[in-house]
Amino acid sequence: SEPVRIALLGCGTVGAEVVRLLDEQADDLAARIGAPLELAGIAVRRPDRDRGPLPVPRELFTADAAGLIKRDDVDIVVEVVGGLEPARGWLVQALQSGKSVVTANKALLAEDTATLAAAAADGNADLYYEAAVAGAIPLLRPLRESLHGDRITRITGIVNGTTNYILSKMDSTGAGFAEALDEATELGYAEADPTADVEGFDAAAKAAILASLGFHTRVTAADVYRVGITEVTAADVASAQEMGCVVKLLCIAELRRDADGSESVSARVHPAMIPRSHPLASVGDAYNAVFVEAQAAGRLMFYGAGAGGAPTASAVLGDVVAVARNRRLGRSAVADSAYANLRVRPMGEV
Ligand code: HSE
Repeated sequence: SEPVRIALLGCGTVGAEVVRLLDEQADDLAARIGAPLELAGIAVRRPDRDRGPLPVPRELFTADAAGLIKRDDVDIVVEVVGGLEPARGWLVQALQSGKSVVTANKALLAEDTATLAAAAADGNADLYYEAAVAGAIPLLRPLRESLHGDRITRITGIVNGTTNYILSKMDSTGAGFAEALDEATELGYAEADPTADVEGFDAAAKAAILASLGFHTRVTAADVYRVGITEVTAADVASAQEMGCVVKLLCIAELRRDADGSESVSARVHPAMIPRSHPLASVGDAYNAVFVEAQAAGRLMFYGAGAGGAPTASAVLGDVVAVARNRRLGRSAVADSAYANLRVRPMGEV
């Protein structure tokens, strides 16, 4: 059959891994989709930069992302650039013209899924973003598909690997925050500027996406109450230990009942003491885990690598296979899930 053609926007750690896996798994992917996948082009800021050995010809690289997206022979746009602009403009353009979009852009989704979902509806196009939260862990599609016959009541997650590494270190060695952060930086877990991680912005963006999907309501990062881990001391960790607890940076999204009997959604990110017997307590190093409570399903836990090139690329490629199949069947699969429109509790309202 005709190949399904991909425009890749971004070729950093995740993008390069997507390119490698597309090559390495080409036969399997083609068998799963019923048509081969082909890279139509790779848009990057500096096409001439040396990117080491990648299994693609140099001519595929271009600085003209908008031009690449516009091409008639592009079916799927995969975006791993991140940030609000120009990514939002590119994805809106792609969706409105009926191209399927796979993105890992948590900042954009946490700020403005509404615009992307509207563009997807306009173009009758797929918008998939499994890689945006908790890297390799299959989580968003379970929330928006597998659990759709159920009613989720609470989502509690460890969704930032850097801070989990730091808090785990503090717990196992008695180190203070600054010392544990230095180690996380040396090992390459923490970025040169770790603000987004340690102040909880990264986790808050993920909390917004999880709350939106879990409760079918638009929750943005600005709605999420947020406290980071910079004030957690060795003494805090020690007293948690004395109480049989461990300190974790949790994201919590839950359905609440208001005084008038109606329901609302609350989302927050803050350090919390949890009993060592809780399944989330044993999540160490830079791992992520998300604990979901649903009325009929009961308690579920999703666990695995939340970041890194290959794990994140795995989630991206899973989405690529899904949207490529949908195209072959002439359908778009996942409608906008924000139909419940529950009230979102303002940050201060506990
Ligand atoms: N900085 C993030 C983390 C990367 O530490 O989990 C994945 O979003």
